[in-house]
Parts: sequence; structure tokens; C-alpha cells
Amino acid sequence: MKRVDDFRLRLGNKEYVPIMIGGMGVDISTSELALEAARLGGIGHISDAMVQDVSDRKFDTTFVKDKTKTYKFNINNMDKAVVQFDLERLAEATRLHVGSTMAAKKGDGLIFVNCMEKLTMNSPKETLRTRLSAALDAGIDGITMSAGLHLGSFALIEDHPRFREAYLGIIVSSVRALQLFLRKVSKLNRLPDYIIVEGPLAGGHLGFGLDWADYDLHTIMDEIHAFMRAENLDIPLIAAGGIFTGSDAVSFLEKGAGGVQVATRFTVTHECGLPDNVKQEYYKASEQDIIVNGVSPTGYPMRMLKNTPAIGSGIRPGCESYGYLLDATGNCSYINSYNREVMANPDARQVVVMDKTCLCTHMRNFNCWTCGHYTYRLKDTTHQLADGTYQILSAEHVFRDYQFSVGNQLALPEKQDSAVA
Ligand SMILES: Cc1cc2nc3c(=O)[nH]c(=O)nc-3n(C[C@H](O)[C@H](O)[C@H](O)COP(=O)(O)O)c2cc1C
Repeated sequence: MKRVDDFRLRLGNKEYVPIMIGGMGVDISTSELALEAARLGGIGHISDAMVQDVSDRKFDTTFVKDKTKTYKFNINNMDKAVVQFDLERLAEATRLHVGSTMAAKKGDGLIFVNCMEKLTMNSPKETLRTRLSAALDAGIDGITMSAGLHLGSFALIEDHPRFREAYLGIIVSSVRALQLFLRKVSKLNRLPDYIIVEGPLAGGHLGFGLDWADYDLHTIMDEIHAFMRAENLDIPLIAAGGIFTGSDAVSFLEKGAGGVQVATRFTVTHECGLPDNVKQEYYKASEQDIIVNGVSPTGYPMRMLKNTPAIGSGIRPGCESYGYLLDATGNCSYINSYNREVMANPDARQVVVMDKTCLCTHMRNFNCWTCGHYTYRLKDTTHQLADGTYQILSAEHVFRDYQFSVGNQLALPEKQDSAVA
């Protein structure tokens, strides 16, 4: 019976344990989590989502405070078009986050950064160019382009000295999205170094409609493998979404995948950035508690726990401080929904907004509990302690369980004293 460790992911002329820990913004996939994956010979992702806030928390910088001060005059104005990112400061925050992670790297693995195109930041092209270039400047091993088609993203950095040296990859959920992307980048004579194929059971935003349940990762992988063979393309495919055991991973590796990207099982590790009480919510969840809805202003369906505090919250849009989802015209669909409720309920002290959520503020405060479909199985990966809570795991334990387990088994950790829980 094969195990993940019987396979290797080849990138350039090096080989890696074929396990990537996926990017989870905002700072859910922390540097510490990514560094563990790299130390163990795999690939870890940090995320550059809301990087100025992440930097403030980690390095005591004042990016958010300063931006809020600059745009304070606009807080009561429902038109947010004036709120812009200072590109130099955005680059500085990115370099701090990426650079400090790279400086701490140990082991034979790699650190990548997940860059979501949907963070349009009221100037989609220039802010994305700044984010990608700054990550390359700071020595990142690779960049995973996510949450968007990224048809113009490679071109934004084609003049960067590291454009052909760093690993560049894309997340797709269909052969069609991949075809569009490859057609664009072939003009630059720069193909991606890896392709992450994300199915409908993943966490975060989904590359599917609300009919996500009609799709299946094995089928999409088979289609993409067939397309790659027909085009004579030899780029590692990384399967992602709902891979819960080492045996699940092997089922893709045996069919020719270069690796797997996993995330959900790492949300309940010490190294994950979620607060401990939220980790316990993930553990406690049952299958019925996990929903896919349209509250994200990005327009993509998102998977989350049903009791996530972000749903229904009618807080004032936080664009003067954040503004990561403002589109090219300075708008965000949460602003429209919020305004609608304020106008409909002029006397209410606090409105309720059901159809959209202020994703920036709620992700920043860990109040949007986005999660993978199999979150309800997390309780099977640990012990319940005497006080009713579940034992938090180490990232190393979960990584090694993926790497070495067979027969769909889940290795339980050594039981800790409940007093320490
Ligand atoms: C809590 C959470 C947050 C996530 N955030 C992001 C994100 O910011 N960007 C992204 O591209 N993918 C995100 N994902 C998707 C993961 O990177 C990964 O591809 C996917 O969840 C793998 O499936 P699994 O969770 O079933 O293992 C997130 C997943 C989870 C569980």
C-alpha cells in the first residue's frame, strides 16, 4: 500500500515532499505554519491578504492607523472612491511580512505566498503589481495566484529580475480557466511552474457557483490531465479540496498528480492563526453546520460555519482602514447592502445585513469562520479532553500524518493532560 512519502514533487531540479499547505488569509496560514511545512520538506504558504494589518500585528508598524487617519474625513461618506492605498507603504508591509518569513526559513522545503486577485484594493492592477513585485523583492520562493483568472498577472511582473527564477503558479477549478490562463501567459514565454486544481470541497472562496456539489475533484483532475497530455505540457498538477487523509492524497498522486494542497486539517494546529475559541468551533462543527453562501462581496461563493458572527452583522464599512475589496471604481457590494438597510431603517441604532458581509473587518477580527467541507471530521483527528474541549494539534503531527499514513487512517496525537488544554 503506497503512502504520500513514496512520491516526490519535482520543481526545477529539486524534489519535495508533495504536500503543500494552502494559503489561508487573513493570517490563518501564519508564517509559523508555513515554516513548519518548509522545515518538514514540503511547501507552506503565507498569504498577503490585508498585509498591512498583518504587519501591524507582527511588527508594531502603524500602517492601518495611518491610513485611517488619512481618510478619517470620509468615514461617514458612503462613497469610498477616494480611499486609496499608498503603493510604497503597501510594498513596505509586503516586504516585512515576506522578508521576515524567509529569514526564518529552515529545512529543504519552500515558502510561497498566496495572492488573491479579488483583493482589488481600489486599483486592481497597480496594487497587484506592487504586491507581487514586493514579494519577489523580499525573496519569496514562489507565488500562487488565486481567487481570480489572473489573465494579466504574469505580465505585471515580467520585468522583475526574479520573474523567471521564482516559482509561479495558479489555482484553477476548471480546464477552461486553465486554457484561458495558458493562452495569455504563452505570449510571455513563461508558463506556470505548477497548477493547483482546486475542487468544490475547499475552504475560503470557491471557483464554482452555488451548484458546487455537482462537481468533483477527481473528474476535474482527469480532464486537466487529459488536456495537458494532449498539449504535451509537463507541469505538475496539485490537487486541492477535501483531501483529508494520506490515502486521499495517494489516490491523486497515483493518477499522476505532482502533489496535493491541504488546509482544513491545519486549522486546528497551534501554528494556525485562528484564535483558540474559533479552533474549538471548527472541532465542534457537524456536517449541517457547514454552509456555502453568497455573503462575500467578491461575488464568489464562500464556505463557512453557519454560526459565523459575520453573517447578519451590519457594521459600518471599514474601508478607510482596510478597503481591500473596493473594486476599480471604489465600490464594494457590502457598501450597497449596508446603505440599503440604513435607508430602510433610519431609526435603527444597528442594522442587520444578511446578503453581504464586511469581509475585511470580519476576516481581520477572525469573525468570518471560513472552512473546508470536511471541517466536521476534524474531531476525529484528536482527543476530546475532560473539560469537553478538543486537543489542539501540532502542524508537524498533521503533516507527518499526511506523509506516512495508510489505509485512510488518522493518527491521533499523544493525549495531553486536560488541565493544559
Ligand atoms: C480557513 C481557510 C481559509 C482559506 N483561505 C484561502 C485564501 O485566502 N486564499 C486561497 O486561495 N485559498 C484559501 N483557502 C483554500 C486553501 O488554500 C486550500 O486550497 C483548500 O482549502 C484545500 O482544501 P482542504 O481545506 O479541504 O484541505 C482557505 C481554506 C481554509 C480552510
